[in-house]
Amino acid sequence: MGGLNGTDEARADQRAADVTAAAAALQRGDLVLLPTETVYGLAADATRPEAVARIFEAKGRPRFNPLIAHVADAAAAERVAVFDARARRLAEAFWPGPLTLVLPARPDAVCDLARAGLDTVAVRVPGHALARGLLASFGGPVVAPSANRSGRPSPTTFEDALAETGAEVAAALDGGPCAVGVESTVVSVLDGGVALLRPGAVTREELAAVVGPLTEAGEGHRSPGRLTRHYAPDAPVRLEAGTARPGEILLGFGPGVGDPAWSLSPSGDLREAAANLFRLLRRADAAGPAGIAVAPVPHAGLGEAINDRLARAAGKIG
Ligand code: TXA
Ligand code: MG
Repeated sequence: MGGLNGTDEARADQRAADVTAAAAALQRGDLVLLPTETVYGLAADATRPEAVARIFEAKGRPRFNPLIAHVADAAAAERVAVFDARARRLAEAFWPGPLTLVLPARPDAVCDLARAGLDTVAVRVPGHALARGLLASFGGPVVAPSANRSGRPSPTTFEDALAETGAEVAAALDGGPCAVGVESTVVSVLDGGVALLRPGAVTREELAAVVGPLTEAGEGHRSPGRLTRHYAPDAPVRLEAGTARPGEILLGFGPGVGDPAWSLSPSGDLREAAANLFRLLRRADAAGPAGIAVAPVPHAGLGEAINDRLARAAGKIG
């Protein structure tokens, strides 16, 4: 197959064949490993409840957790959700990219099970070229939670994604390591205002620059998926650590903090830290340490999402 000939053209042909095969798998109601710029997703046809049920089964996830519908472009997004002027401004500013909008659902576009029975729907246009290729080829909305088994860190490399849920899929697209490394920002745009439900790669400050200050997420806005413990390695996680205690692995941040090989970012760069976060948590956990200590990471900008995921890994939230 593709390995016989090393030219770029042969590789492009192989990719196109992989995308076609993955789209066909979605059409049959099978699951697909989907690379995105944030994390790898476990994808299914959003219109078919029996396909969506297989995702919950494969992840071991409670059924009340609603999923994100991924679409190829803003026009496709308007077919699944109702956009107002604020939602359109956010879509124009950040799509394709790591922003998910929770909006009033159009009836019957995404099945009830994928929305967990809510009358809203979460929708995003991912920025990864292979993801967009698959979505364009498939045509309809595709739901894709992170491809980890429930309660485990999201996979940010093809190898980690295969190890988590690879046994459950009919097709797997290798998109390389995820550039962002934390899940998309989830924002609801509903009558009550614009609320941040899950911090992510698009920061609160970037959102406010487009739609003004965000409202606090009240109960009605609360993201149901956030009620459960997420992103947890097996080893205990200790935050705001200055140095490693005996038997611990220290994940550093910034110059001179711990072993550079275990650093989230030796230079203290938040983007690099986000991209390394889940891979390093996994690698540390696989070494079977007494614990994983994590150096302080600033809270500003992308640091809000990183600290949110760290607090969850430590069992401090959720
Ligand atoms: O970066 C990402 O968003 C990745 C990649 C694969 O696209 N996907 C992902 O999906 O993180 P998942 O299922 O692990 O997280 C979806 C989040 C959950 O917190 C869920 O509760 C929230 O979106 N959500 C989905 N639909 C919602 C709705 N109608 N109202 C409120 N929150 C919703
Ligand atoms: Mg997840």
